[in-house]
Amino acid sequence: METCRVCDLPVTNTQVVVSRGNPQAKLMLIGEAPGAFEDEIGKPFVGRSGKVLDRLLESVGLDPQTDVYITNVVKCRPPNNRRPTGNEIASSLPWLQQQIELVDPYVIALAGSTAVEAILAKKGGITRLRGQWQDWQGRLLMPLLHPAYLLRNPSKAEGAPIALTRGDLMEVCSRLNQIKQNSLVSEMDLARDRQP
Ligand code: URA
Repeated sequence: METCRVCDLPVTNTQVVVSRGNPQAKLMLIGEAPGAFEDEIGKPFVGRSGKVLDRLLESVGLDPQTDVYITNVVKCRPPNNRRPTGNEIASSLPWLQQQIELVDPYVIALAGSTAVEAILAKKGGITRLRGQWQDWQGRLLMPLLHPAYLLRNPSKAEGAPIALTRGDLMEVCSRLNQIKQNSLVSEMDLARDRQP
């Protein structure tokens, strides 16, 4: 990724921002693009949005270091934190696709409309799509509201964006537990079948 010059973002960024978390995690979270903090530090979601994200993950029992692999659609900071253009997104997708294949997660959480539009090619429906499982290339996808949107809507009330997102993450958690249990059961079945 460091040598990529397919779009013009490497002219203005400080560094390429690839990932943080666990590359062996069964959950991958994809955001939009690095902001100023991420560009400076070299890791995704380390600014204010990242703090909100980590707090939410922890609130449902997920450890941001070990239970999740976190990345963005676009790996270079767009100038002034503008939304990435269609061309920048298209240039980044082959990198994202490689990350997905290498990490091989059971579940992918898409944080915000840029990630949803980039992966699912569905436009403008994050408030309608959030919380609804999607099938994509044999994987389960969960669209979520973006943490920056939660910062702008800080109400803690039931039914407010923060509570909805927490509910969506709880759904992710219980599906992950289900999948892990099922694969444990099939491993136990295989081991039993192998016994003479
Ligand atoms: N920081 C990131 O790394 N990604 C986003 O989408 C927003 C903030």
